[in-house]
Amino acid sequence: MRSFREIKLHYNFTAEDEKRLVSLQNLMTENVDKAMDALHSWILQTKEAAVFFSDDNRKSHIFGAQKKWFLNLFSGNYDNNYYESLIRIGQVHVKRFVDAHFMNRSVNIIRNFCVNIISSHIESMDEQARLLISVEKILDINLDIITSSYIEEEIKTYSPAYKVKSALLSFSERFSQFMNLILLLALITLTLGVVGLLVYDVRSIIVGNFKHGIISALGSLLLLWVIIELINTEISHLKKGGRLQISLFIGVALVTVIREIMITVKLQKPEIEVVYYLIAAILAIGLVYWLIKKTEVEIK
Ligand code: HEM
Repeated sequence: MRSFREIKLHYNFTAEDEKRLVSLQNLMTENVDKAMDALHSWILQTKEAAVFFSDDNRKSHIFGAQKKWFLNLFSGNYDNNYYESLIRIGQVHVKRFVDAHFMNRSVNIIRNFCVNIISSHIESMDEQARLLISVEKILDINLDIITSSYIEEEIKTYSPAYKVKSALLSFSERFSQFMNLILLLALITLTLGVVGLLVYDVRSIIVGNFKHGIISALGSLLLLWVIIELINTEISHLKKGGRLQISLFIGVALVTVIREIMITVKLQKPEIEVVYYLIAAILAIGLVYWLIKKTEVEIK
């Protein structure tokens, strides 16, 4: 937040402006009720603003605070206490969820009111222009400080939410990495299982069961090849992140059924219906595999 001195400097708010504002003090004090009427009738007619004033005690408290604020515009006392009182307005409004838009509109009403009063009570056009410039400056300074404190207060309000959000995100990331590691471990275990199958098949060949051994070994090799592919994809997913290819998992299912059909048809001579079921299963899994693969290529 900028210092009050800097803000006044940027608006070129001089001792001359202070004097002019003080010269308006009596006129504005005489007309303060009219100014408040203009502001309050807008507030009460605007549904979204009026909801804040449903309680009578609160209404008279806030209306009183607004009146004091208006009179202080012409007090000539623009010190640090004044500055802090403006910051407080922004803070209180944020805490009570008063949209900054209502503050802007309120100041706009006060500005219009001051223009009318000055133009109808001050005869000299030059003096009118000078007074109006000073009034514009103090109103803009007020709005600037109140709005800045609004923004500052909102950031403070939202930063804990951001903290919770980022903590949640990093926890989810770590959890996902952990689950990926578990998946990798499971794949390694499965690979060992398939190697076991292959050893069993080779043993079948050695003991003379050639037909069964070779066909079964071919199926196991196919399975091993797909699982190795799956492990490689998972490793690169863990290293570089990015999407995991679901098609590979479907590929494992496809290869498993193909292996099953090879062994069952060649070695067990099943009934024709069983063969039809297995072929239908391959076609269905193949179609799903093709569709997913196609989508993955399109997303890339
Ligand atoms: C020129 C315009 C306005 C000024 C100068 C102003 C000023 C203030 C001040 C000084 C306070 C703090 C009162 C205290 O010390 O407890 C306050 C509180 C409040 N204002 Fe404003 N206000 C303005 C416009 C509005 C508008 C348009 C709304 C609603 C749409 C509004 C709603 C409130 C509410 C809800 C509070 C909190 C009251 C409480 O907690 O009891 N104000 N305002």
